[in-house]
Amino acid sequence: MKILLIGSGGREHALAWKIARSPLLDKLYCTPGNAGIAMMAECLPFAVEEESAILHWLQAHPVDLVVIGPEGPLVSGLSDRIRQQGIAVFGPSQAAAAIEGSKVFMKELCARHQIPTATYQVFEQAEPALAYLRSQGAPIVVKASGLAAGKGAIVCHTLAEAEQAIQQIMVERAFGTAGDQVVIESCLRGEELSFLALVDGEHVLPLAGSQDHKAVGDGDTGANTGGMGAYSPAPLLTPALEQRIMDEIMYPIVRGMAAEGYPYRGVLYAGLMIDGDEIQVLEFNARFGDPETQPLLLRMRSDLLPLLSACAHGSLHGMQIEWDPRPALCVCMVAGGYPGPYGKGEVIQGLPTVNPQAELQVFHAGTRLQAGEVVTAGGRVLGVTALGSTVAEAQQRAYATVQTIHWSGVYYRHDIGYRAIKREQG
Ligand code: AMP
Ligand code: GLY
Repeated sequence: MKILLIGSGGREHALAWKIARSPLLDKLYCTPGNAGIAMMAECLPFAVEEESAILHWLQAHPVDLVVIGPEGPLVSGLSDRIRQQGIAVFGPSQAAAAIEGSKVFMKELCARHQIPTATYQVFEQAEPALAYLRSQGAPIVVKASGLAAGKGAIVCHTLAEAEQAIQQIMVERAFGTAGDQVVIESCLRGEELSFLALVDGEHVLPLAGSQDHKAVGDGDTGANTGGMGAYSPAPLLTPALEQRIMDEIMYPIVRGMAAEGYPYRGVLYAGLMIDGDEIQVLEFNARFGDPETQPLLLRMRSDLLPLLSACAHGSLHGMQIEWDPRPALCVCMVAGGYPGPYGKGEVIQGLPTVNPQAELQVFHAGTRLQAGEVVTAGGRVLGVTALGSTVAEAQQRAYATVQTIHWSGVYYRHDIGYRAIKREQG
């Protein structure tokens, strides 16, 4: 098969690495890719936003499947335009990707299909939003409805913080039109779980559980990021909980979307809050999680390509996924300053060019080749991902490699997986 992968993050490097191991693969292209992806794919120069260039290239170079990594092109409808050219796509239609692209759409969809999620109100003007905040009090969560690069959900511990969030989103318009509508919702307590499933419009095949650490600082403190590290499996996810998530959330949402005329095809990522017996949906994403995909794919023993292809062709029924029972853990190495402003172009030293074993992979995110050297080119730069017989061992292996890699301003958390390790050690 000939494949075009779209994206340039750690998630896409993990996808490229896994696709490259498929015996079904003839040729892998990636656009725009990064320095790590370039070791296993032919990289094209088009940014993910350059839709017409991508469509034009596809006309001249027909592939068997296009795999879309990030949410931006999904929400803007690239998958529809590629399908119109007669090419199979892994990734939902624009109508279905609205489950991530519009929090208002997602909340209303959940309400129609009795999917448990935090109580909420939608606002388009600052004054009524502020009045509602004052009537509810803190803690409370303020969210820009549209895409905001993972920064649009603000968990406010005080009323002043919540008022500041409204000011930022609705008055200063920090997220542009993504803040045209604002969802204000109750603050949920519990432990977060990333539950991803492959979906072909009708059938739902769950992936192993995973958890990420969103906060920038050790001990889960500081600003939220796209994710500073992740691990799989999630010790929190028992077989009984998985069954409930499938019955109470995944099947109702997938059937509901099909019944409403926009069947979901691709990977559906439910961000869940688990509090004892209570399961609530925080968000749905229309794509693989980043960095959750890095440990997930290191553990996946099955060939990924037939699974992606089956989602695109509606033939997922009866397929299964075999997992390495060992846990995997990913530590993100980021540019100092992330998720705020950060520098780029720093030379990365100590990077293993050939990964020593399949048990450990250094996935690239924001990297690029410059005069033969790998330099930083984004906030999240690398995802060092390791398997171990325990989470503690996977953590130890990942950090042993993290410590051999350096650039000016490098930052990472020192405690990825601490909750799982605490559970493991009783
Ligand atoms: P979202 O963009 O909706 O996924 O939210 C991003 C992150 O904000 C989530 O992963 C949670 O850590 C946090 N969050 C979102 N909604 C809530 C909520 N209702 N209660 C508590 N935390 C939340
Ligand atoms: N790690 C969170 C996300 O991919 O949205």
